[in-house]
Amino acid sequence: MIRSRIIGCGSYLPEKILTNDDLSRFVETNNSWIVERTGIRERHIAAEGETTADLAEQAARKALSAAGIEANALDLLVLATSTPDNTFPATATRVQARLGMTGGVAFDVQAVCAGFVCALSVADSFIRSGQARTALIIGAETYSRILDWSDRTTCVLFGDGAGAAVLSAEESPGTTADRGVLAVKMHSDGRHYDALYVDGGVSTTQTAGHLRMNGREVFRHAVGNLASVATEAMAAAGVAPEAIDWLVPHQANARIIEATAKKLGLPMEKVVMTVDRHANTSAASIPLALCEAVADGRVKPGQLLVMEAIGGGFVWGAAVVRW
Ligand code: UT7
Repeated sequence: MIRSRIIGCGSYLPEKILTNDDLSRFVETNNSWIVERTGIRERHIAAEGETTADLAEQAARKALSAAGIEANALDLLVLATSTPDNTFPATATRVQARLGMTGGVAFDVQAVCAGFVCALSVADSFIRSGQARTALIIGAETYSRILDWSDRTTCVLFGDGAGAAVLSAEESPGTTADRGVLAVKMHSDGRHYDALYVDGGVSTTQTAGHLRMNGREVFRHAVGNLASVATEAMAAAGVAPEAIDWLVPHQANARIIEATAKKLGLPMEKVVMTVDRHANTSAASIPLALCEAVADGRVKPGQLLVMEAIGGGFVWGAAVVRW
């Protein structure tokens, strides 16, 4: 059978770092509250004029270089973002042009913090159905542009960044020992639309709006949904939780990550954590964490990974991948 294997990844963080102490200078908060409740210590913020496409392009170039392929070999580019450069065209097409990808198709997906899992699912489906052989998926965000910097309940939680991965079609025996994407599962429940949303938009206010969140409600749903979708993806892949080498979770809050790992029976030594330095970068957080663990040698060929995420909608999902 055809599997889609991740053959390279890359990430990019804007240069500017904003620490918790920096935040406490303009909003009523403090380092110890943020660290205790979230595990976040600092986040990166895009420079003036630096856009989601800029971040995405940097991450994509590194992923292509790690994979050893040229952009014009790509059949598909899927960019997960909820902070696009323009309402349309898709930011993916801007990145496509900049990379020199002349064929195939590029489009955005919008699944907020679950965006990278969604992009992975789309690319995997294109590859397994024969519509594409080589795909680039990117999660890129500039949440600094939609934060209300006077609202301490949200502005301390998010950051900017981008991560990307190249997937390639590979003929595989069709066993759990195959390398590549073994299973992806996704869900949404739109009854929670108002728990985490942006209070502006094209057809409502004709403005970009600001992020609004009922943090407690998101928290309440996060752990249960993440653990159950990860369990569902592992069952679909035919692997037991004990076989998992690395949990690469969406990085929203250290407490959510720890509670989910505990529910899955995974010790924290098997969890990749970047939330302390990146904060919540939405669709970019999984590939940022993944690239870090690949670059520093933690993730090794043949190891089994679970990625999971939940975000606005709610939309949530998990993927099981053998590296
Ligand atoms: O990708 C998914 C995205 N979202 C998430 O994952 C967020 C999920 N939710 C959370 O992570 C947590 O709910 C938060 C970190 C957002 C909040 O933590 P919490 O333990 O649920 O705190 P809380 O909202 O219950 O607030 C406790 C207190 C409140 O004061 P009072 O009403 O008890 O006097 C807040 O006003 O903390 C206050 N507070 C702050 N204090 C200092 C809220 N934000 C801050 C702040 N600094 N930044």
